[in-house]
Amino acid sequence: MELSEQEYHHFRDLIAERAGLYFDPAKQDLLTSNLLKRMEDCGLSTFTDYFQLLCSPAGTKEFDHLLNLITIPETYFFRDQAQFMALKRFVIPELLKRKSHPALPLRIWSAGCSTGEEPYTIAMILAEGIPGVVSSPTHILATDVNHAALEGARRGIYGARSVRDVPEEYLNRFFTQKGGEYHLDESIKQMVEFRHFNLVSESYPPLEISGWDIIFCRNVTIYFKPESTRRVIHNLYKSLKEGGYLFAGFSESLRYVSNEFDTVQVGGVFLYQKGAPQKRQPRKARQTRRLRRLTSPLERKPRIRSVSGKEAKETQKLCSRAKEFLEIGQPEKASELLTPYLDKSTAPESVFLLLAEIALNQGELEKAAQLCRKIIRHQPLSHGGHFLLGIVYWSWEDERRAIEAFEKVLSLKPEHALARFNLGDLYSQAGQLAKAKLEYTNAMRLLKEVPDSFDEWFAGGFSPALLIDTCLSRLRTLDSEQ
Ligand SMILES: C[S@@+](CC[C@H](N)C(=O)[O-])C[C@H]1O[C@@H](n2cnc3c(N)ncnc32)[C@H](O)[C@@H]1O
Repeated sequence: MELSEQEYHHFRDLIAERAGLYFDPAKQDLLTSNLLKRMEDCGLSTFTDYFQLLCSPAGTKEFDHLLNLITIPETYFFRDQAQFMALKRFVIPELLKRKSHPALPLRIWSAGCSTGEEPYTIAMILAEGIPGVVSSPTHILATDVNHAALEGARRGIYGARSVRDVPEEYLNRFFTQKGGEYHLDESIKQMVEFRHFNLVSESYPPLEISGWDIIFCRNVTIYFKPESTRRVIHNLYKSLKEGGYLFAGFSESLRYVSNEFDTVQVGGVFLYQKGAPQKRQPRKARQTRRLRRLTSPLERKPRIRSVSGKEAKETQKLCSRAKEFLEIGQPEKASELLTPYLDKSTAPESVFLLLAEIALNQGELEKAAQLCRKIIRHQPLSHGGHFLLGIVYWSWEDERRAIEAFEKVLSLKPEHALARFNLGDLYSQAGQLAKAKLEYTNAMRLLKEVPDSFDEWFAGGFSPALLIDTCLSRLRTLDSEQ
């Protein structure tokens, strides 16, 4: 049975209106097969009858059943590890320090939580405790539109696929393995409250769903129509506290979606922040909010070692395809595509750099460092390799080596604006204020005068103008401190 053009439009528009999900013509077959499944369960034989059921007062319940089929529940623990590292090492310590009263709970909302791996990862991080930070009461709310996924989340029993990226110490501490299943510890389950919530059709923020310190809304709106995404992101903005953070998916830039947030780099990942915190922070606390890894290590025209013009073109094509995977949030696929090239004796620098960048974003710092060192061994003048290595050292909090790496970048490419900006942050952190001012000033001048000094590929939302603003505000803060 096939959907007529008109029937397809009716179902497509109803689903987009009620849940945001958009079935473009390429997904029409998928939509048809799911509709047929539901029609069979309801004992209906025509699409028209089923559409009428959905539009009737009894249709709300049936729409939920349909949603259970058509939403994409793909998720796993510690998905995009680097974000959780940033959460643990920078965001939570900063927010806890900023709290006006120690008894106030830290409020975290996982919007579009699917089967619970995301909010439970947050709970495990909080349960483990953060060195040097006094813990505080927390409220983690996890919501989704898919009832079946929420039921699974409440059960807290997972397969090997879901736990594939869980670090061993967490796996041993918080899971009990029974056959092929991993049962999550009751203490972690109790930390998360699960609730049904449709981000598109329900109005918010009602009281209890606002005032969040942190919102995770990752890989949810990628399936939405742009106008639904804009509305949802605006509502999430309203639901956040001043100074609160939104974690979006690895590939979800808000560049064309919202201009309400400040884009910040924290611990090597991009986050979106609602305005600046009210109180000016003391120097030490401010350091934890520094912008990091604000750049692409890739050159616009990759310099390729020992490959002919034809091979160079092929490599460029390969990297573009890998970047497309990154854009749609599939770093594993990008990595899969590039990895075979590493065995070639003349593997191009750009392939190594892209793989190192992916490893860094996935939180695989050791792997990223190894790749960078390999690049530098073969290509000692690779400023991209030195730059990325600097980021790795910084993530390891080895500031001395990070400074050395960024200085090396400048000896190879003095107009590298982002290396100068990072040095500004590092010098400022080390209390070398005159040097910090010099680097912010240089970075600003380069951004204005030398367009090639900025590469926006990995700058995810940062424009040269925004970076100039950031330099200016850093300079103002340094002036006021001196
Ligand atoms: C791919 S999963 C993402 C899970 C998790 N956030 C992550 O990144 O691993 C997308 C989830 O968004 C949920 N979702 C889709 N549309 C929604 C809506 N309108 N309101 C709430 N949740 C929705 C789906 O049910 C699904 O569980």
